[in-house]
Amino acid sequence: MAIPVILDCDPGHDDAFALVLAAAHPAVRLLGITTVAGNQTVEKTTLNARRICTAAGIRGVPVAAGLSRPLHGAGIVAPDIHGESGLDGPGFGEPTVPVDERDAVTFLRDTLLAHPEPVTLVPTGPLSNIATLLLAHPELYGRIERIVLMGGSTGRGNRTPAAEFNILADPEAADIVFSSGLPVTMIGLNVSHRAVATPDVVARVAALGTPLARLCTELLTSYGTAYREVFGFPAPPLHDPLTVAHLIDPALVTLVHAPVAVELTGTHTRGATVVDLDGVTGAPPNAHVGVDVDVPAYWDLVVDAVRTLG
Ligand code: RIB
Ligand code: CA
Repeated sequence: MAIPVILDCDPGHDDAFALVLAAAHPAVRLLGITTVAGNQTVEKTTLNARRICTAAGIRGVPVAAGLSRPLHGAGIVAPDIHGESGLDGPGFGEPTVPVDERDAVTFLRDTLLAHPEPVTLVPTGPLSNIATLLLAHPELYGRIERIVLMGGSTGRGNRTPAAEFNILADPEAADIVFSSGLPVTMIGLNVSHRAVATPDVVARVAALGTPLARLCTELLTSYGTAYREVFGFPAPPLHDPLTVAHLIDPALVTLVHAPVAVELTGTHTRGATVVDLDGVTGAPPNAHVGVDVDVPAYWDLVVDAVRTLG
């Protein structure tokens, strides 16, 4: 039975591949796509979601635009990695996939109410939409199967030495999600930095030879250049699709049950996910945290998804 999923994202090069994987694999039933401000403004991330759906032939999956800013303070964007468009590299035609008339939180509410079974939420951007949903609709908790998010880290951050981008972009929202009592799975940088798109991976995608494969190759090339220039990475980590890959093959990411606290006030550490892997705080575990990944299996899933939709 396919897992009903709503992908909440901020496309974003790696979000694009999460979208393709979620749409392509039969183990996932993609009920909808909600967008949020993150890598770029929500106007741009929404346009990019529509562009990806158009290019990948993803039809009949609603795209609903979400929050334009975090719950508190001003937002941050990542043009150094994803460019001014949020999806720099390829050229895109006009998207033919429309934007839903509802905002993201309304779409999430409606879909959770209408779907006959609990839905898995897969956030791959800041958690602003998800936190707003949880605050506004506690009566819907029973309609949420689990939350499998890309964000945080058991170690260092990437936007500050302590904080990963998605969490730093809206720490209060992340705190609401981790404190919700819902089943949360956190796939962070400590795992995603092992899932880098090496030249061999890029060559596998390019060799598919389809229009979508060419688009994905251009995305990986642009994304790789940015990661090399900004972080000195020889190859770019493809963070977001790990969430969907874990749903498809739970063994692909090794998880441990641990307490995760989100730092909200630290001068130098705001947005950090403080993961108590050794149980020294005595706090109750509130998340399943990724600690390892089967990298070859991951790339097989990603390449097969591009092949399937290409
Ligand atoms: O830190 C990596 C995360 O931030 C990824 O989801 C990327 O798309 C950005 O949103
Ligand atoms: Ca993202």
